[in-house]
Amino acid sequence: MIKENEIKPLYSQEQIQTEIRSLASKLNNIYGEQEVYLICVLKGSVMFMTDLAKHLTMPVKMEFIRLSSYGSGTTSSGKVNAVDIALPDLNNKNVLIIEDIIDTGHTAKFLMDFLRHNFQFNDLKFCALLDKKVKRAVDVNADYYCFEVDDKYLVGYGLDIDGYYRNLPYIGYIEV
Ligand code: IMP
Ligand code: MG
Repeated sequence: MIKENEIKPLYSQEQIQTEIRSLASKLNNIYGEQEVYLICVLKGSVMFMTDLAKHLTMPVKMEFIRLSSYGSGTTSSGKVNAVDIALPDLNNKNVLIIEDIIDTGHTAKFLMDFLRHNFQFNDLKFCALLDKKVKRAVDVNADYYCFEVDDKYLVGYGLDIDGYYRNLPYIGYIEV
């Protein structure tokens, strides 16, 4: 387990919350009174989803799915595993996928393809807290994101290293 003093601060709790509040007000304007299903991609997106949801004013339902692409390493395997996908009927719904980070894009692509194959949405959008655009390996983009980040391994605020440090209220990076 790495020590917390090896984590270099990148975004403070205040910076994260400011960006989330501004994203929420943008979403409030876009959706108005329409109902939205938030799909939280476990485990990394749990902090982002709950903080974002607190500022949303439209009728919201929360769903959770679990995918995994990273084993215990820090580079994407490119293989996505569907660990737990139990979703309600999302036909004709407005759906907003909530992800912690888009890195290579394999996870996002897998999920969008899977969902489009199974449902006819009224609207399907992808929302990521962090977008590591320089690492993109497949053609997929976030409709909304809070921060564009460099090619660094990030931890905190949901993001982990070997399962640790998801609970940090800030985001930092480690040299790998
Ligand atoms: P992708 O499939 O390569 O886009 O990777 C997406 C998933 O890998 C994210 O949902 C994260 O769970 C994980 N991931 C990617 N980059 C990082 C990082 O810098 N720190 C922690 N997890 C990451
Ligand atoms: Mg994730």
